[in-house]
Amino acid sequence: MTLATDQQAQADILRPSGQKALLIDGKKIAESVLAEVAAGAAALTGEGVKPGLAVVLVGENPASQVYVRSKGKAAQSCGFHSVQHDLPATVSEGELLALVDRLNADPAIHGILIQLPLPPQVNAARVLERVSPAKDVDGFHPFNAGLLSIGELERALVPCTPAGSMLLLERAAKALGVEISGADAVVVGRSNIVGKPMAQLLLSRNATVTIAHSRSRDLKGIVGRADIVVAAVGRPEMIRGEWIKEGAIVIDVGINRVPGEGVTAQGQPKTRLVGDVAFDSSLPRAGAITPVPGGVGPMTIAMLMANTLRAAQLSRGARS
Ligand code: GUN
Repeated sequence: MTLATDQQAQADILRPSGQKALLIDGKKIAESVLAEVAAGAAALTGEGVKPGLAVVLVGENPASQVYVRSKGKAAQSCGFHSVQHDLPATVSEGELLALVDRLNADPAIHGILIQLPLPPQVNAARVLERVSPAKDVDGFHPFNAGLLSIGELERALVPCTPAGSMLLLERAAKALGVEISGADAVVVGRSNIVGKPMAQLLLSRNATVTIAHSRSRDLKGIVGRADIVVAAVGRPEMIRGEWIKEGAIVIDVGINRVPGEGVTAQGQPKTRLVGDVAFDSSLPRAGAITPVPGGVGPMTIAMLMANTLRAAQLSRGARS
């Protein structure tokens, strides 16, 4: 995605940290993506296609309820047709598959999101594979994963967190005047929804990509050689600041809750959010870094909206 007011956005989104590193403001970039999606949705609606997003929530997991509410709100603020299907935790796999079939066939719906996790009686992979690849705005379907792996980015729906991370990386590289092409990049973490697609995206931009993980023998050495570090392991502050190469761009996907200091007004022990990268000790070394919270986190929902708009735009192409 490109911004019409790129230079202004550049100034807005990269703030001095008081140290060497620029701070990459994911909240601001997410807002600019959402504004652009809303404008695209208005234009498409004017042509008779209102983007539609269906979110399916199974059970009463509080974290899932919060995510789903945020997704619905963002969809409405973008001017989408937004529907939510709440199913009991006891739902059978057959019932869930039948709902997916109905949504696949519904011309008012361009994006289908099945909030994870699903209850144990449901085979999650089978349900995700039932979603039409053209409506798979999470980018979890093996068909979309395959398109990404063969570099068909024009056709693929890419998972939202790596897509958002890539956008932050592009903005940071531009601000620092460095190239992604030819750079040494390490992705720490090999999940199907972040690590692997992130590595594919970096590869498609001609970075030299290493995928490291919890069993990698020399993580410190691998990170120390990287111009670009993407951390997605889910371990609080596992990547030490001293490991970071001078001037590297650090994209921290981790969101980990750890004990804080003191107690809340309700007498509960305070907690705080930290990333997979030790932030404070990275600041004197990194060229640019995403904070946690306020870095990659806000981008995920923004990219979900961007994917839904794209699915709606592609659906029009498919019909004409
Ligand atoms: N549960 C937690 N994160 C996600 C996500 O990005 N997509 C879906 N479908 N479920 C989730």
